Amino acid sequence: MDLVLISFSHILVAPVACPRPATNCLQETFNRVFEHLGCLGCQSGCRTGYIMTANPKYHVTEGDLLGFYDYQNITIPNTRNVSEPEWLCLPGNTCPWGFFASKIDVTDACSYCGEGCRSCQSYDNCDHCVMGYKLTRTKLPNGREASLCISSGVECPNTPDNCQHKTYVSQIVGCQGCMFCEDGYLPTYNPSITCCSSSSSSSSSSSSRQVVVVVIVVVVVVVVVVVVVVDK
Ligand SMILES: *[C@@H]1O[C@H](CO)[C@@H](O)[C@H](O)[C@H]1NC(C)=O
Ligand SMILES: *[C@@H]1O[C@H](CO)[C@@H](O)[C@H](O)[C@H]1NC(C)=O
Repeated sequence: MDLVLISFSHILVAPVACPRPATNCLQETFNRVFEHLGCLGCQSGCRTGYIMTANPKYHVTEGDLLGFYDYQNITIPNTRNVSEPEWLCLPGNTCPWGFFASKIDVTDACSYCGEGCRSCQSYDNCDHCVMGYKLTRTKLPNGREASLCISSGVECPNTPDNCQHKTYVSQIVGCQGCMFCEDGYLPTYNPSITCCSSSSSSSSSSSSRQVVVVVIVVVVVVVVVVVVVVDK
């Protein structure tokens, strides 16, 4: 009887919330920290208007990958970042660059193409790479053919802020900067490399430009009408 109570009390231990939970999940079931897995995020799908998308930052690929760390007494391998949910819900219904449409069980999802890949049909089968990477056909240890994006290995000296990908020197065009910025930022030519600037400031300047254009058009139309009327 005691044992049953103990196991019940164990189940009733409050689930540990993710340090940075995913947003817009259909359910919160997996949006918490799991032993050995970290934060799974929106693994069972997204609210309408959002698409379930793999988060490559969930996998840690640099540094000491062998050990484990504790997050609120939950053991997590160094290869997983508990602050990065495995599945995110991104606005829209199509996959962003670097991802391909797939299914997780019955849910539409966007899976990751692999580092440096711009577009692909499946993982490790890249069609186009980001600048600074080169498309390379290779045979994986399991014998499968793969098309990977291999970086030049030389990182650009001025790393643009808010860039979604690493920037490497391209052998042909040198350092071109950022092709794809984080949400809310747009690539901007500045003047030697492309960096990311806040899209809210540039969209407000483009909307004020639109207002100026509309005013000019209205003035021209009024002048033409007046001239035509006066002529008669
Ligand atoms: C972790 O476990 C230790 C020892 O069992 C306990 O004292 C501590 O309060 C726990 N911390 C959390 C955040 O649960
Ligand atoms: C884990 O993710 C957080 C938030 O993005 C980041 O600040 C941190 O550097 C990451 N840690 C590792 C080991 O990658």
